[in-house]
Amino acid sequence: MTAPSALQLRHLLGLEDLNADQITALLDLAAQMKAVNQRRIKKLPTLRGVTVLTFFVENSTRTKMSFELAAKRLSADTMGFAASTSSLSKGETLLDTARNLEAMAPDIVVIRHSSAGAPHFLAERLNCGVVNAGDGAHEHPTQGLLDLYTMREKLGDLTGKKVAIIGDIAHSRVARSNLHGLAKLGAHVHVAGPATMLPPGLEQFGCSVHARAEPAIEGADVVMMLRIQRERQGNDLIPHAHEYHRFFGLDAARLKLAQPHALVMHPGPMNRGVEIAPEVADGEQSVILQQVENGVAVRMAVLYAVAATRGLDAVGG
Ligand code: NCD
Repeated sequence: MTAPSALQLRHLLGLEDLNADQITALLDLAAQMKAVNQRRIKKLPTLRGVTVLTFFVENSTRTKMSFELAAKRLSADTMGFAASTSSLSKGETLLDTARNLEAMAPDIVVIRHSSAGAPHFLAERLNCGVVNAGDGAHEHPTQGLLDLYTMREKLGDLTGKKVAIIGDIAHSRVARSNLHGLAKLGAHVHVAGPATMLPPGLEQFGCSVHARAEPAIEGADVVMMLRIQRERQGNDLIPHAHEYHRFFGLDAARLKLAQPHALVMHPGPMNRGVEIAPEVADGEQSVILQQVENGVAVRMAVLYAVAATRGLDAVGG
C-alpha cells in the first residue's frame, strides 16, 4: 500500500484545511482499507512499531473504538485514556498533560476535546502527528470523511448532488466538517433547523438555509440528521422533544419528499423519536451502520497517511 504523493498530511485538524484532491485521495485510500477489512484476516503490517495514543477528553463510544481498531488493523501499538481517569480531573493544564504524553514518545495523538482549537494547539506544540477526533462545536474531520465516503460509495460522484443536513447545525462539529467537505466535492448542501440552532454566517459555506425541514429534504439525494447537542447549549433551545420531532424529525412521510434512492444518515448517537423515527433509522434507506463500518476504513487511511507523511510507515522508514 502506498499513500498518494499528493497526500501530504502531517496532521488532520479539519476538512477546512484540505483541498478536493486531498479529500479524494483519502477516500480512495480508504477504499483500499475497506477491502482489507472485508478479508478474513483484517490486518496490515504497515504501521508496525508506530505508537498511536488516543487522548479523549470528552465522551465517545464509536469514534474512540473506531480509531483504536483502525490503528490495530495497521499493526500500530495503541494506548488510550479518557479524561475521567487522567490527571486533567486533578487540575493539570492541557499543555502540561500533552507534554507528559509527548515524553512517552507517541508518533500520533488522536484527540477529542470539548474546546474548539485544542488539536491545533497541540499540533503547534508537540513533535508528533495530531488527528482531530472532534473539537467542541468546531470540526470532526474523520466523521466528515466517513460521511463523504459513504455518500460517494452509494451515489458515485458527489458533484451536483443535493444533501440535506437537518437539526442542530450551530453546535454540530459533524455539520461543520460536512459543510467544508461537501462544498469542496461540489455537492449542494441545504441545511434546516429551528432558528436557535442555525448559526449566523452559514452562507459562507455556500449552502442554502431553510427555516423548515421540507424544502431542504425535497428532492434530496441524502438526508443527514443531527442530534441536538444539549451538552453544548447554554439553555434549552427547543420547547419540547415531541414538538421538535413534529417539525424537524425525519419520519417516513417526510422522507418521501426526498428522492426514492435517498440515503438516510446519522453520525450517532441517535435519539430515536426526537430527530429520527425508528422506522426510518432502521428502514431500507438507512446507511447508519454502514457509516460506522466505513469509519474504521477512513481512520485507517488517515492514520496511514499521517504516518507515511512523517516517514513512519514500513515502506518509508
Ligand atoms: C458526534 C460527535 O461526537 O460529534 N458523534 C460521533 O462522533 N459519532 C455527533 C454527536 O455527538 O451527536
